[in-house]
Amino acid sequence: MFIEKKLIFVGGKGGVGKSTSAAAIALMFAQRNQNVLLVSTDPAHNVGDIFHTKLNNQAKEVCLHLHAIEIDPSLESLKYIQSVKNNIKGVVKSSMQHEVNRQIDAASSSPGAEEAALFDRMVSIILDEGGKYDKIIFDTAPTGHTIRLLTLPELMSVWIDGMLERRKKRNDNYTQLLNDGEPIVDPIFQILQKRKERFARVRSILLNSNDTGFMFVLNPERLSILETTNAVQVLAKHNIDVNALFINKILPQEIEGEFWKNRKENERDYIRWIEREFRSQEKYFIPLLQSDINSLELLSAFSQQIEKDFLSYRRTY
Ligand SMILES: Nc1ncnc2c1ncn2[C@@H]1O[C@H](COP(=O)(O)OP(=O)(O)O)[C@@H](O)[C@H]1O
Ligand SMILES: [Mg+2]
Repeated sequence: MFIEKKLIFVGGKGGVGKSTSAAAIALMFAQRNQNVLLVSTDPAHNVGDIFHTKLNNQAKEVCLHLHAIEIDPSLESLKYIQSVKNNIKGVVKSSMQHEVNRQIDAASSSPGAEEAALFDRMVSIILDEGGKYDKIIFDTAPTGHTIRLLTLPELMSVWIDGMLERRKKRNDNYTQLLNDGEPIVDPIFQILQKRKERFARVRSILLNSNDTGFMFVLNPERLSILETTNAVQVLAKHNIDVNALFINKILPQEIEGEFWKNRKENERDYIRWIEREFRSQEKYFIPLLQSDINSLELLSAFSQQIEKDFLSYRRTY
């Protein structure tokens, strides 16, 4: 079952209930005395709102056994650029420093720079801080963004390979020219190599279905189903299986009036579609509640409900 995994990624369109579901799963584990980290990577953060507190990029305890982080991509990007500059300092000649910094600044405003920085923070959470927790739940940004993020290690490793290749060639040339064939140590090569190794480790964790589970939240509506179908296919191309679906905001059975009866009828068609379309995923059907889930009490009730569903893995709706 997907909830047995150490890392759980929660994806889906904006507004379907990702943050609520991710927070409810996190709370469920915390209430079972597991140490849990809930990480929001969605620039439209609302995990802090759910727990009525302000969060940032460092883990903060939001209730017993549960810490949370909201990663701010633009802040991460600034920090990341500074760390790249620091890494390069002392490696390039001081006369070149200004030009190198100029190039780094130019690169930092290119598309994808914030995503790269966000990914770097995720890598550090998984590799450096992961040991402190039994479970890490990622509340991710809407689908397209998440897919790019998950496929980033692949892209980055191609990119880093290219850089490594070029540096190695240059180094070989220098070695022959300057150093009587003795290999010279290239610090930039080593930095890149280390980065590549960290990405490769995270990639293998993400691709290992014993470590990592992926679930999508959707609503029984046409666009939400289409988007989920697409996401499942794209991730499959990258060898990532989506293990579970939360079909959220199911209308109650006992419903009055023509308008709602029609909507419920429509919903049944969509649920049949979901059943046909997603045969290999665990499916959890979650009712629409009377109000938003905007307090710890309501979240806790929601969390107990999904816990029951996990325990019995129901298919009723
Ligand atoms: N099953 C549900 N019943 C009632 N309200 C819900 C339910 N699931 C989510 N909500 C509400 O819907 C809104 C959007 O949910 P949220 O988890 O913030 O979505 P997302 O993170 O996908 O954008 C929130 O106000 C939340 O309280
Ligand atoms: Mg959200």
